[in-house]
Amino acid sequence: MPDWSAARALVPLDPTVTMLNTGSFGPTPTPVFERVTELRRALAAGPTDFFVRKVPPLLWHSRERTAAFLGTVPERLVFTTNVSVAINLVSSSISVDGPGEILMTDHEYGAMIWAWERAAERIGLTIRTFPLPAMATDPGEIVDAAVKSMTPHTRLFFFSHVLSPTGLVLPARELCAEARRRGILTVVDGAHAPAMIPLKVSDVAADFYTGNLHKWLLAPIGCGFLVIGAGMEVRLQPLIVSWGYKTNQYPISDSAPALGPDDRDAYGSTPRTRYLEFDGTRDVCPWLSVPAAIDFQTGLGFDASRKRMAELSAYTRSVIPLKEATPAVPGLHGAMTAFELPPGKSAALWRKELWDRRIEAPIIERPDRLLIRVSHHFYTTEAEIDVLAGFLSVRS
Ligand SMILES: Cc1ncc(COP(=O)(O)O)c(C=O)c1O
Repeated sequence: MPDWSAARALVPLDPTVTMLNTGSFGPTPTPVFERVTELRRALAAGPTDFFVRKVPPLLWHSRERTAAFLGTVPERLVFTTNVSVAINLVSSSISVDGPGEILMTDHEYGAMIWAWERAAERIGLTIRTFPLPAMATDPGEIVDAAVKSMTPHTRLFFFSHVLSPTGLVLPARELCAEARRRGILTVVDGAHAPAMIPLKVSDVAADFYTGNLHKWLLAPIGCGFLVIGAGMEVRLQPLIVSWGYKTNQYPISDSAPALGPDDRDAYGSTPRTRYLEFDGTRDVCPWLSVPAAIDFQTGLGFDASRKRMAELSAYTRSVIPLKEATPAVPGLHGAMTAFELPPGKSAALWRKELWDRRIEAPIIERPDRLLIRVSHHFYTTEAEIDVLAGFLSVRS
């Protein structure tokens, strides 16, 4: 078992803040920060050499390492700035035969709901949400609720692998299998899944699996991805038209042999991934630093880290004096636990009172109540959870 306080010392957290919000943004551990800074130095000192000669092998290396970590292949992995871009890449270009509906749970992330609302208008579909059994005791309850909501009109099913408001983990593989059986496309928002829960994207077998690497994997901010499911390659258009736009159709130069869409190209990608990924000159250093983030947490051990998260989850439940809003059943939660706040105080006032005490934990506004969400990564301490518990004991 790693020495968790020694491991925490490698995450340069502000010592004056009780940090219980990895769920929104992951901090950058020192070895990862050093790697991204080293790359940015090289970029600053010689931008042409960096972009033209240094990036291609580094980008391919990162694509291979990231794909292996996620359980997919490099040819299907498109890097994005974040999961919002990945979802928009799909929602802005996907074509689906209408009339029909997009189905989603009633616990999706607000901004992603808006992305689908815009897409629904464009394609001529409607949106229908169904209530999740938020305190399910078995994954089968969630599958049953989803299956009951699928109809012959359902064209596309969008859901989060790990819910943002409560941290409930959905049985993504089973949900995708049920949708596929009914000819329904699946788009999974895996914003929180990588590094928080065991994940093999090829097993989930979604048509489109998206996620973030800058939350629980602790890669530098600016790392998200899309994994394109089998047969879905032809359904997407890039968000930005740039130099990748035609390389899937044309050779790079007259003398170069034409590449197949999945052949490794001269840029660290394939014609297919570059088509969707390349959006002009940008800072790719976060993408190139993903191997450092994988190495850092591999050094601690993902299993050991998840065991520590489970211990902290149990500890959080034992000391926070509020009604739990996340099931305690193993497999249905990861490293986020939500609690119901007592009525009578606005979200704004809760936020102010928390930050007055330099406690970082989000207040989530649900239609019927307010929740507070506690994130516990390997570097979280019992003492930090006690600080929150102390504040809530006085307030509630
Ligand atoms: C479920 C879910 N989807 C999407 C997002 C958006 O993430 P980003 O801003 O990194 O794109 C979040 C962020 O917290 C999230 O929790």
